[in-house]
Amino acid sequence: MSKDIIAIQQLTKKEILSILQLASEYQEKGIPGDVLKGKLVGSLFFEPSTRTRLSFEAAAQRLGAGVIGFSGTESTSVKKGESLEDTIRMVDGYVDAIVMRHPEIGSATRAAEVAMRPVINGGDGANEHPTQTLIDLYAIQRTQGTLDGLTVAMVGDLKYGRVPHSLAKALAHFPTTKQIWVAHDLLKMPEEVKAFVQEKGIAVEETEQLEDVLSQADIVMMTRVQQERFADVAEYEKVKDVYVLRPEMVAAAKKSMKILHPLPRLYEIPTTIDTLKHAYYFQQAQNGMYVRAALLTKVLT
Ligand code: NCD
Repeated sequence: MSKDIIAIQQLTKKEILSILQLASEYQEKGIPGDVLKGKLVGSLFFEPSTRTRLSFEAAAQRLGAGVIGFSGTESTSVKKGESLEDTIRMVDGYVDAIVMRHPEIGSATRAAEVAMRPVINGGDGANEHPTQTLIDLYAIQRTQGTLDGLTVAMVGDLKYGRVPHSLAKALAHFPTTKQIWVAHDLLKMPEEVKAFVQEKGIAVEETEQLEDVLSQADIVMMTRVQQERFADVAEYEKVKDVYVLRPEMVAAAKKSMKILHPLPRLYEIPTTIDTLKHAYYFQQAQNGMYVRAALLTKVLT
């Protein structure tokens, strides 16, 4: 497996499936406490995070590894103007692997270029979020029993959302699974992702109509409109709540349809959805610790 996990396309289908398999063993039997004994993981979060950081740190510690790092740059030399490269060079000498999140596109690649140790991308700006994708694939496989022959809808901010970018690419490993991209004209999937997926011969449907999609989909991946990526506040206000899922809208959905969301959710999923049998997003987030434990195991052993 590639030393660094920067973008989902670095992993082969076989590698992805073996991570999901190990995650499932960990979830069924518990995470063994000695797998990463004596190892140290650097957890560098230059940008806000709840689930990604805490599930990685919980996974590392449950596997027996220690964790050092920071959450926000306020108390670090980044505040004095230290470059990303220099910060990474330092931490690289202290730890066995680096998990990082940073607001700039390409930051994880830059870190991997100077680090000797493996770098795992926990989100680089609006670019990629490969470990969330592993969690999404795990949720799909667990709830549908397969990753093949499904209809997966991705809804919301497909432009700035790193989660749909990585998921769309990963689903290209499963050519019989159809992707439907539901977005406002201002928030459509980037051309680069579209070209990647189409080159693999994947059928993609793009639409602005969520209602029509809900009755066909096996998975509906809702996403938050990424306010922090908008230069123009008025533009954000215009699109922030274009897609709001309401209980009556999912009435015609397949019984087995599951709603996913990387979280945090804002307007797009009201709490009235939480009690429906379709809601899987909190379980999806809980699964994340097992998936990240599986990934850390593969990277560090
Ligand atoms: C996502 C992210 O940070 O890209 N959250 C996460 O990692 N669970 C999605 C988001 O912030 O909207």
